[in-house]
Amino acid sequence: MTETSLYQRLGGEEPVRAIVTDIVALHHANPVISPRYDNAKKSDAELIKLVVDLIGSGTGGPQEYTGMSMPEAHKAMNVNEAEFVAVVDDILEAMVKHGVGEREKADILAIAYGMKNDIVHL
Ligand code: HEM
Repeated sequence: MTETSLYQRLGGEEPVRAIVTDIVALHHANPVISPRYDNAKKSDAELIKLVVDLIGSGTGGPQEYTGMSMPEAHKAMNVNEAEFVAVVDDILEAMVKHGVGEREKADILAIAYGMKNDIVHL
């Protein structure tokens, strides 16, 4: 029996891209973190592509992630715990909006939470 990848269970590139597009829009509308994203060097389109590739490459999709490592991308930002929670809140809200299944939501949240020490207080 072949195990179905998380990427396949999420439905592939199109739904993943739609969810990531909404996550970035939610970040711009979230007062806890919007200043970070409003002042980012990367455009929204660049960030969306990088995050889609990061998710794809980490969940069994064909994408190759060519961006910075999580510590490199967030170093010197001194991201705090409240900002980390705000980002995870937006990830969950976008997944709920797109009807992502319970198991897939839990898997993605676990992956995101597992990155915390590579992102917070660097
Ligand atoms: C699990 C959580 C997170 C993931 C998966 C993630 C992922 C990423 C990725 C892939 C990039 C692009 C890297 C590159 O440019 O090569 C990025 C950039 C960025 N991240 Fe995160 N991030 C997370 C949490 C956070 C948090 C908590 C903040 C704080 C509000 C944050 C703020 C930013 C900003 C502002 C940029 C753009 C930097 C710039 O271009 O100027 N991220 N993130």
